[in-house]
Amino acid sequence: MVAEPSHIAGYLVLSPAAAPGDGQTLAREVLAGLTERPKRLSSRWFYDDVGSELFARICAQPEYYVTRTELQILTTHRADIAALAAGDGAPLDVVDLGAGDGSKTRVLLEHLLSCGHAPRYVPIDISHGAMRDLVARTRAALPTLEVHGLVAEYVEGIAHLTRQAAPRRKLVVFLGSTIGNFRADDARALLTRVREACADGDLLLVGFDLKKDPHVLFRAYNDAAGVAAAFNQNLLHRLNRELGTDFDVERFRHYGGYDVRSATVESFLCSTEAQVVHCSSLATSFDFAAWEPIVIEHSHKFTLAEVDELVGACGLLVERLLLDDARWFLDALLRVRGAR
Ligand code: AVI
Repeated sequence: MVAEPSHIAGYLVLSPAAAPGDGQTLAREVLAGLTERPKRLSSRWFYDDVGSELFARICAQPEYYVTRTELQILTTHRADIAALAAGDGAPLDVVDLGAGDGSKTRVLLEHLLSCGHAPRYVPIDISHGAMRDLVARTRAALPTLEVHGLVAEYVEGIAHLTRQAAPRRKLVVFLGSTIGNFRADDARALLTRVREACADGDLLLVGFDLKKDPHVLFRAYNDAAGVAAAFNQNLLHRLNRELGTDFDVERFRHYGGYDVRSATVESFLCSTEAQVVHCSSLATSFDFAAWEPIVIEHSHKFTLAEVDELVGACGLLVERLLLDDARWFLDALLRVRGAR
């Protein structure tokens, strides 16, 4: 894919893996995942343009409390967050990891602008379509805001920022509890990487979904309108489109189950019958037994003690712990100390 000039489009395409048609990485991972026991597909492949749109619809479902709860936290505490981020008045980048539709970060940007600050907005997202829409909407709503989007995976986007000639003060936001979609070691590695890309005094705002009533969690990942199911099934449609598989998607049923012991929602696509799926680009086929699951997502729910341990292990200091009244969700405002 050819990158559009960033000053015109408002974003730069960095990652070849982010471009549709990077069949090689996808094919390699699918082959490895579908030959494992249990079969697996990584949730990082959810977010093509269709998947990003479906995820935005999940966020609007009544059962999916995550987005509206975090929005409420950010709205309540925006002045405090903005004051800490704007600090000494140095030029500020608001870096939005996995920005999606950017609606939550918008609350902070609007507040910064209304206080006379001139932050630069750096959304990073793997979906080209989501980025194009986000940049267009942000420019229309906040015409004075400088927007420099990056279509990239997180680590690559962050690395790009460290290569800039004149590094700016950073507020890195990683919202929505996407951190819970990483295995514990990977979560630690990612936050450490982000911390290393920051300078002393920079801030991170990280969303953590907290442990709660398992019934609430079950409903959130199995909404009545079937949007979570469509989101997960889109992964199979994507493989059909991009790898030439012949998944009959209706013969794979979505199930999101909350494991109370590991405090993790695990999402599966279960083969409703014994069947064989062919893949033309890999010249192979995959056998499924009746009700055999493909593990497709892991969404960990945290305790405050776990958050404390994780951020401490990554060399981050807690500046504020921002919670909603029901204590369902936490936005942790973290300070980088002793970097680079
Ligand atoms: C992106 N991530 C934080 C969502 C979650 O809640 O784990 C993805 C999701 N999957 C199904 N519903 C939402």
